[in-house]
Amino acid sequence: MTAPVLSVNAPRLIADLTDLGCIGRVEAGGINRTSFSAADTEARGWYLARCAEAGLSVRQDGVGNLIVSSPAVAAEIAARPAVWSGSHLDTVPNGGQFDGALGALAALECLRRIHEEGIELQRPVCAIMYTDEEGSYAHLLGSSALARGFSRAELEAMVGRDGDRFVDTFTAAGGDLDAAAQTRIDPGALHATVELHIEQGPTLEEQGIQIGVVSGIVGLGGGVVTFLGRADHAGTTPMSQRRDALVAAGAFVVALPEIAARISDRAVITCGMVSVRPGSANVIPESAQVSVDFRHPEQGQVEALEAAIRDTARNIAAQYGLQVGIDLEESIPPAPLDRGVQKIIAARAAARGLSSVSMPSGAGHDSQNLAPLVPTGMIFVPSIEGRSHCPEENTSWEDVENGANVLLDTLIQLAGG
Ligand code: GLV
Ligand code: MN
Ligand code: MN
Repeated sequence: MTAPVLSVNAPRLIADLTDLGCIGRVEAGGINRTSFSAADTEARGWYLARCAEAGLSVRQDGVGNLIVSSPAVAAEIAARPAVWSGSHLDTVPNGGQFDGALGALAALECLRRIHEEGIELQRPVCAIMYTDEEGSYAHLLGSSALARGFSRAELEAMVGRDGDRFVDTFTAAGGDLDAAAQTRIDPGALHATVELHIEQGPTLEEQGIQIGVVSGIVGLGGGVVTFLGRADHAGTTPMSQRRDALVAAGAFVVALPEIAARISDRAVITCGMVSVRPGSANVIPESAQVSVDFRHPEQGQVEALEAAIRDTARNIAAQYGLQVGIDLEESIPPAPLDRGVQKIIAARAAARGLSSVSMPSGAGHDSQNLAPLVPTGMIFVPSIEGRSHCPEENTSWEDVENGANVLLDTLIQLAGG
C-alpha cells in the first residue's frame, strides 16, 4: 500500500471553517445561510476570494454551481475527465457549522495543496460548490440540475421556503433562467466524484470509528400537502359546523409516524413546516399547508411511502369534508455508491492508521445525483452526539483533519497520482 504523499494544511482548513462559520451566525447560536440569502451570497463571495487568493480558476454554471480548478494543469491533462470533490455552503435555517461546509472547504484545501505543491496528476482535480443543497427551492437543486436538468416551466413553478418564487430570487441575484434550464453535466467529462461530509448521526462516535465509508444514500421524496376548508368566525361557528383545515392537517401529521412504521423500520417521514391561512387567532383556518419529507434506502419503499402519504391525505380530507392538494416533487432515488471508490477510501484510511467502517447515509447529499452517472464515493467523519441540522452540530478538529487527509489521498489516487 502506497504511503500518503501529501497532507492538508490543517490550521488553514480550521481557520477557513471558523471564518465561514461566522457568516450567517445568528443570536440563537446557529447559522442561517439558506440559499440565496444575504449570508449565502456573502459566503459565496468569501469562497471566491479564497479561490482567487490561492490562484485557482472558477467557473460558474447556469444554476450557480461553482467549479474550481488549477490553471497550472497542462492543457492535455485539463482536457481529460476530471475528479470532482465538494459539497455545499448553504445551511438549513439555524443550522450548524459543518454540514456542507466541511466537504466544500476540505475539497478546496485538497486542491490548494495539489496546486501549491505542483503535484502532477494524470487527471484534473476540481473542487465543486453546489447551489441550494438544503432545498430552499428544491432538494439538492444544484446537482439535480446537473444530473436531470430542470425545464424553464419547472424552474418557474419553484416556490421557496419563504413563499418567494425561485425565478424572482434567482434573477434578482443575477441568474439567467435560460442558462439555468440548460445546465447539465456531461458524464463523460467526469472520471469520479468524492464528497467528504459529517455523518450527521451517532454511529461512528458510538462505535469509536474515525472514518465512515459510505455504501449508499437513501432515496428521498417530499413536497407539500394543502388542506382547504372554510374561514369562519372562531366565536360564533358551532364546532359541528366547522371546516377547519388545520384540524385535518393535524390529523394528517399525527398519521405520518404510523405510515412510516407500517412501511418499514428504516422509513422516516418528517413534517417540518406548517403554514396556516389566513393566520389569525380568531379565524378558523381556511387552509393549512404542511411539508412532508420521506426517505428510505430502497426505491420500492420510497414509492410505497409516497403512495401511503397520498392515500392518507385524501382519506383525512374526505373524513373532514375538505379538499386537499398534494404537490410532491419527483423523488430522488436511493444511490448505491461505487465499490471501487469505497475500496480506495478504506485503503487510504488504513494507510493513515485510521479505523473505518462501511455504512449507509440516512441524509441526502448531492453525491446521490452524481452516483448514477459517474463512479462516486463519500467519506464520513464523526458527528459529536450525532447532532446535525441544529446549532449544536459539531465535529472535532482531529476528525476534520483525518477526513480531509483521507479525501486528499483518495483524490490523488483517483487522479492517477
Ligand atoms: C440534507 O441535509 C438532507 O438530508 O436533507
Ligand atoms: Mn443538511
Ligand atoms: Mn450536507
